[in-house]
Amino acid sequence: MKMPKDLEKLMIEQLRNELGSAYIYLGMSSAMESMSFMGISKWMRRQAKEEVEHGMKFYDYLISRGSKVELLPIDQAITDYKSPLNAFEVALHHEKSITGFIHKMYDLAVLLKDYESQHMLNWFIAEQIEEESQAQHFVDRLKFAGDNACAVLRIDKEANKVVS
Ligand code: FEO
Repeated sequence: MKMPKDLEKLMIEQLRNELGSAYIYLGMSSAMESMSFMGISKWMRRQAKEEVEHGMKFYDYLISRGSKVELLPIDQAITDYKSPLNAFEVALHHEKSITGFIHKMYDLAVLLKDYESQHMLNWFIAEQIEEESQAQHFVDRLKFAGDNACAVLRIDKEANKVVS
């Protein structure tokens, strides 16, 4: 069954949002690398890769529903952040907005009785719990570390080991 047009439009926008998220995380990775926070830079880079995978899930799903996929433009990404905390605060805010988009799509899929899309979006609803929780974890720890350089460097070292 072909997807309702309104839902298809939101999914095409979400494909752009996920690839845009990859760009945002890559910008953060670049900023952290330039500040020599190599562990956080790697974490952000892995996250960027994961966002491309998220985008491709939307791409593949749209194709499987017979949609002609339009590729919307992606905004330029910021590559300057004041600190790791600043970057993770922006990441957390961004992930919350992505959760909002996913919920909006799910609400529409329920309204339109598009059961296939509800099933597909369930994966993203679960994924967003993890995405927000990871960013929140770093925000909390970096706030706790404050201006203590040793504590921040320890978090940077640990970020290299966290599998995102
Ligand atoms: Fe694909 Fe981080 O949301």
